[in-house]
Amino acid sequence: MAKETLSITDNRTGKSYEIPIQDGCVKTADLRQIKANEQDFGLMGYDPAFLNTANCKSAITFIDGDKGILEYRGYPIEQLAEKSNFLEVAYLIMNGELPTKKEAEDFTHVVTHHTYVHENVKSFMDGFRYDAHPMSMLASTVAALSAFYPEAKNIKDPESRRIQMIRMIAKMPTIAAFSFRHAMGLPYVYPDNEYSYVGNFLAMIRKIGTSGYKVNPVLEKALDTLFILHADHEQNCSTTATRIVGSSQVDPFSAVTAGITALYGPLHGGANEAVLRMLRGIGHISKVPDFIKEVKGGQGETKLMGFGHRVYKSYDPRAKLIKRVADQVFEQTGLNPKLDIALELERIALEDEYFVSRKLYPNVDFYSGLIYQAMGYPSDYFTVLFALGRLPGWIAQWNEMLIDPEQKISRPLQTYVGEGLRDFVPISDR
Ligand code: CMC
Repeated sequence: MAKETLSITDNRTGKSYEIPIQDGCVKTADLRQIKANEQDFGLMGYDPAFLNTANCKSAITFIDGDKGILEYRGYPIEQLAEKSNFLEVAYLIMNGELPTKKEAEDFTHVVTHHTYVHENVKSFMDGFRYDAHPMSMLASTVAALSAFYPEAKNIKDPESRRIQMIRMIAKMPTIAAFSFRHAMGLPYVYPDNEYSYVGNFLAMIRKIGTSGYKVNPVLEKALDTLFILHADHEQNCSTTATRIVGSSQVDPFSAVTAGITALYGPLHGGANEAVLRMLRGIGHISKVPDFIKEVKGGQGETKLMGFGHRVYKSYDPRAKLIKRVADQVFEQTGLNPKLDIALELERIALEDEYFVSRKLYPNVDFYSGLIYQAMGYPSDYFTVLFALGRLPGWIAQWNEMLIDPEQKISRPLQTYVGEGLRDFVPISDR
């Protein structure tokens, strides 16, 4: 049988080394023994942006980017989107198994009964200007929760970790809804346990006056499905940020805040907002060919937002499912007038050599913004909805990192390419 090792010859010294291969990886720490001379630090791996470096072992999400496969804990995303609901999927992602009926009831009960936030959180949020971006409000307010729950620092206590995870799943929709109402100049609506998880969120967003709010079941199911599709995506930028910040053993509210701020960027979760800006800029279907020309000739200056992915080199399976959700939502809300521009962009891009040769396909953000807009959310709110969906993934990955005996505080190396040692020059001589 072939050996699971890698043989390396260092041509600087003529020495050979045999390095174990495990789970398709070599440990870059094993390269450290390879030295040009006694004083040498040892060979490192150089991998800006982690293009070919695994940062952890994880049992949460499996992706095959070439085949367009996405599974949470072994369950295909297509089955979860069709047959499950967001809270059940959150439980699965966080605990490793689907809940029994009793576990699902208990989980729903406990989440429902932790949805209120301290009254001071409200006053804290009132401090933002009327035009504050809701992602800034969300990130700052989730960070502030660590001040409201100082016991969350006990990250080595599994029971404390469990409670903080429940608190986050329960309270983030409340904070997200408050940020929406703040921007609209509307009074905050308190959580109502009569609704489902998503129904309660919709009520906190939409309710006017004191009479009951009737949730549209199609839009409720659509948002629930969108949350499922966003629930985890292995080691993406925001999850890695959560893991890295959490590796310092800070409380989970602070670690998840890092995830939220990473998600805010236009190359990550902020892409759904950027797609709408792009569609607005194009303006009309007749301008699509000109825009495609601009993307192709722009040396990366102009991007077709909502296209391309670090991992998927075929159609993003989530984008396929989202198109189905879009049909259901548009049946209720009427067609989004920008849909024809998006469909034309997709049609041209899927045939164009530039996009085909680079394996650029629509990703999860290409159609989600159109759905959110049809549902009545302003474009700066789209990434907040992404964050609500991604939360179980951040929490589960944070927890997995903490109980993994191989993990330590994250601390990448660098190769220093700056000035050599030199003497300080007083300002009068410079
Ligand atoms: N439009 C035009 N060209 C593109 C695009 C795009 N959307 N994406 C990649 N390219 C080109 C890029 O210029 C490069 O071309 P060349 O080889 O000639 O230099 C080539 O394709 C490879 O791209 P890359 O930038 O090396 O790929 P990456 O893996 O570093 O970046 C990405 C992945 C998602 C950041 C990038 O595709 C992108 O910026 N897409 C637009 C933003 C977007 O939709 N982001 C959401 C990602 S999915 C949801 C999430 O996880 O947040």
